[in-house]
Amino acid sequence: MTETRDRWHSRTSFIMAAIGSAVGLGNVWRFPYVAYSSGGGAFLIPYFVALFTAGIPMLILEMGIGQRIQKGAPLAFGAIRKPLQWFGWWAAGLSAGIVIYYSTILAWSWVYLWHSLTLPWGDKPEAFFVQNVLQRSTGPGELGWPVLSLVIGMAITWLSIYLILRKGVRNVSKVVMVTVPLPLLLLVILLIRGLTLPGAMDGIRFYLTPDFSKLTDIRIWLRAYGQIFFSLSLASGVMIGYGSYLGKKAEITNSAFITGLANCGTSFFAGFVVFSMLGYLAKVQGLPVADVTESGTGLAFVAFPTAISQLPALNSLFGLIFFVALLTLGIDSAFALQEAFTTGFYDKWHIPPQKLAAIFVLIAFPVSLLFVTKGGFYWFDIVDKWICDFGLVISGFIQCLAVGFLYPVQDFRDYLNAQSEIRIGRWWIWALRYITPAILLVILAGNLSKEITEGYAGYPRWATLVGGWGTLLFWLILGYLLWKRRNSSDHL
Ligand code: TRP
Repeated sequence: MTETRDRWHSRTSFIMAAIGSAVGLGNVWRFPYVAYSSGGGAFLIPYFVALFTAGIPMLILEMGIGQRIQKGAPLAFGAIRKPLQWFGWWAAGLSAGIVIYYSTILAWSWVYLWHSLTLPWGDKPEAFFVQNVLQRSTGPGELGWPVLSLVIGMAITWLSIYLILRKGVRNVSKVVMVTVPLPLLLLVILLIRGLTLPGAMDGIRFYLTPDFSKLTDIRIWLRAYGQIFFSLSLASGVMIGYGSYLGKKAEITNSAFITGLANCGTSFFAGFVVFSMLGYLAKVQGLPVADVTESGTGLAFVAFPTAISQLPALNSLFGLIFFVALLTLGIDSAFALQEAFTTGFYDKWHIPPQKLAAIFVLIAFPVSLLFVTKGGFYWFDIVDKWICDFGLVISGFIQCLAVGFLYPVQDFRDYLNAQSEIRIGRWWIWALRYITPAILLVILAGNLSKEITEGYAGYPRWATLVGGWGTLLFWLILGYLLWKRRNSSDHL
């Protein structure tokens, strides 16, 4: 092969892209809620323990393996053991699965961005979200047609992803210089607005008042690991793909530390933004903060819009700021996910990025319309649950064991230490071989037993079987076919 691999423009752009993939909606709508409900300020202890014992070690693993082997997840794992290429395709397939439903959130955000101009939800933001925006049906069995405004939002989302990815990693290098700092800047503006509102301090006290008694509860520790794992975008092949575009001499360990710390710092900071606004909302509605607190879609599309329309002035402006922040938080996670999957095709069949971006978007866009049908919200919820709670956990488990035991880790560590700014000790190997897999296994067992005994959120079994297990199985089969298909150079 005479062609040279596409490269990051600079080390900074690589780190920015890694941060961009990690910092996403989860930092805003998941972390603050998890922290407050898991011991407030005291949660920072298990959280940082999880960051250092599992999060950063796995980041080093993923960035390092991609960089050393110079391939995305499928061929990188295939280089460790041939059959592991199947696993690599599966992990990368999960990424493709995520971006297809993740785009839904961006579609909603585009619609809300538009509505920010007039703030039409009035004093019924929840009904507005469910009835007007989602036009939600009564259950997953009642699919209906795609909702036009959301289809437009989807189209804009996929077009943006295509335009960003079609020129490859060099272009991503430029894009992340905007999509990473911009949402942070916007969050700072929202924070300043939030902190100067009445009730803000009550919200923040609510967020951070430590409850140390929670630290004896094992579930809180598992939640911390789960949050770290999700937040750093691990086990989906994203960091492996991004690492593969680093040069042969690139620094790894310090970049992983910077990415991990920047991500968790952003989460902690986002908690102030969220809870200062919720504190204000509680004050104007005369409710306790606990009663207005939400996470996920309820926070972004119900609680925040309510707070925005209750602001004393410049409501539309703050609406625009908030939804642009969501969009720029989400878009770099989205294209990172797509890249993690398409990199495999570039590696194996040398299909150029431009073509890959076009083909992927042309297939993914129609499929993603399933999630903006009237019953789409339910399918979004199910697919998200299964990929995150089962797919990524299983993938992380296999990944740690594969690299920990089938790859010469000792030698890998020496390799990383030789070219990195921070030397990693034996703890890194322990973290990969024992600590992280053990914790992931416990998390998986907990999730599984809950699913078997209680089901999920009252959905009928057939729906979780099709949408949840079906999705995981689909990528397993497709992964097998991609693994077995001969590569263009007919060896390896
Ligand atoms: N880290 C992202 C967030 O906090 C979500 C996420 C999980 C993700 N896995 C991913 C994003 C893989 C990109 C790639 O919102």
